[in-house]
Order: sequence, then structure tokens, then C-alpha cells
Amino acid sequence: MKATAKAPANIAFIKYWGKADDTLRLPLNDSISMNMSGAYTITTVEFSKQFKKDSVTLVGGEFSEEETARVIKGLDLIRKRAGSTQKATVVTKNTFPKGAGSAASASGFAALTVAGFAALGVTLSEKELTIFARMGSGSACRSIPDGFVVWEKGDSSKTSFAWSLYPPTHWDIRDILVIVDSRMKKVSTTEGMETVATSPRLAVRLRAIPRRMKEIQQAIATKNFSRFGEITEEDCLGMHMVMQTQTPPLFYWNSTTQTIMEAVRDWRKHGLPVYFTIDAGPNVHLLCEGIDEERVLAAVKTIGGVEATIVNKPAIGTRIISEHL
Ligand code: DP6
Repeated sequence: MKATAKAPANIAFIKYWGKADDTLRLPLNDSISMNMSGAYTITTVEFSKQFKKDSVTLVGGEFSEEETARVIKGLDLIRKRAGSTQKATVVTKNTFPKGAGSAASASGFAALTVAGFAALGVTLSEKELTIFARMGSGSACRSIPDGFVVWEKGDSSKTSFAWSLYPPTHWDIRDILVIVDSRMKKVSTTEGMETVATSPRLAVRLRAIPRRMKEIQQAIATKNFSRFGEITEEDCLGMHMVMQTQTPPLFYWNSTTQTIMEAVRDWRKHGLPVYFTIDAGPNVHLLCEGIDEERVLAAVKTIGGVEATIVNKPAIGTRIISEHL
């Protein structure tokens, strides 16, 4: 049987950085994100008794051996839960550069999980789907529910799952992804998180998370954009401070990243309400309200070194679609 799923990438406002359990991918902290309308993965999974081995193809690119092994691990988890031994053919396509800190693994494992179970004819609850996606890549659990999504860290595989806080229609905000370098990042998130405990800043950040989670949910509920932006920037900088003080230190920004961070502060001073957040890469996500989209795009045009911009609205989560790859 064959099924295809479309999964959005997501951008976290309170970020996931560090694991309590490496194998199960249990995070050290709760996180919160929004699905991105302009950056997604489409994946077709087909299971058959005829297939002698698993095959994994990335349209318009190539998976490394390591990446292929990780997809096969994901298939093994799906097969185990579904009670199947059939091998699979996986074909997948991204609408954005892989490894550019724009969460290709999140949308990738969300799509693989939803398409994989559907292809085996197994219906799981949304909660259980988020648990399986999480074991592929932590942030993938947040790409399954709709709109604005909370991932509760939990303390076991069953209690670490994601759920929708609000549908995408709740708040008309934008995440303008500014791509300043679309090459593969040097240190993967999985690898980077392995040494998180070497940072003296980790405890400081983890202590601040419960307050940030509470305040950002209040800001989203009341659509208080400046408070929402302030907390998002605070947590982004807090996470990068942890990264930069790990041994070995992880420094993901380039000079254009830093130029944009400074420009954002300047634009705000001049009356444009825009905030930034940055994942494990040099690209910058600019957050603004829908009415300010054009002004932010015009401001970005004044910056040198920008390869592309992707405008994202809040989006629905992962869905089965009828067209196959
Ligand atoms: C910086 O989910 O890619 O984007 O679980 O090891 O696959 P693994 O990590 P991943 O980490 C995402 C880290 C982040 C922050 C975030 O999206 O919350």
C-alpha cells in the first residue's frame, strides 16, 4: 500500500535544545512553535512484500548514508508498531534548502510518520503520531498538529508529545525566512545537542523556560505582538548563548546574520514592529504582523548578502494528500 503526506516545517519561539534521553529524543525543556505555510516536505511511502530492501530517495538532492539510516530507523519503528515486516520505498521532496537551519528534519519525519502509518493502513491518534515523529527528529512532533503548537517535554515516551494550542487562523502573523546561506550546516542539531551539558549557561536557560512558556502563551492568547516578539528574541539569544558556551563551542551565525540582527533592532527603533529568531544555522526568521509584511520585505531588500526570502503564514499540520511522488 502507498500513501503520501505533506508536512510543514515549523519555527520555534521557545526552542528545543538538549535531550534528557538521546534514543527516545526526550527534550530537556518544553517548546512552542508555528507551522510554516511556505516550507514543507512531501513524502510518499510504499510498502510491499515484493521489495527486497528499503529504498530512500530525495528528489533534487541526495541523502547521506547517515540520513538514509535514520529514515530506515524511522521505518523500523513504524513497522514494529504496525506489526509489519514489509520493506518500503520512500520518495521525498522539500520546498526549501535542506540543512539550512530551516527544519527539514522536522517536516521530513512528520511526513514520513504520517505517510508510513497510512501506507500500512494503521490509524493512530494525533498524539501518538507526534510521539513517533518525535523519535525520528524531536522538532518533527511539532509539525503534525495545526497552527500554533506546544511540545510538552514529559518524562517518558508516552508523556512527551505535541498538541495544537491554536489553529492557524488564530493570529495573522508572518515568519519571513531570510536565507543568507543555503549550504548544509556543519554541525547537525543531533550532534550539537550531545555536548549541551558542557555549557554553564544550560541551567540558567532551563530555569527561565517555565516562565517564558507561560508568558508567550499569554502573549499569543491576547495577540500582544511586542511581548510575543520580546520573549521569542530572549529565548533565541538564550539558546545561542548555550550553544556558544558549549565545548566545543557552536557558532552558527555569519556576518549577514549579525547584520540582520542589528538592523532589526534599528527598524524597531524607527517604528517597524519586527523581531528575529534563529535556529541552528545562519538564516534569520523575521516575525511581524500581517499588516507589516510589505514593510519588512522592503527593509530586507536594503541588506546585502540575502539569497532568498520565504514568507510564511501560520499553517495547518501534516495531512495525507492524494497525489503521489
Ligand atoms: C535549534 O529536532 O533537529 O531548531 O531531535 O536531534 O533531530 P533532533 O533535533 P532537531 O532540533 C531542532 C533544534 C532547533 C530548535 C527548535 O526547533 O526547537
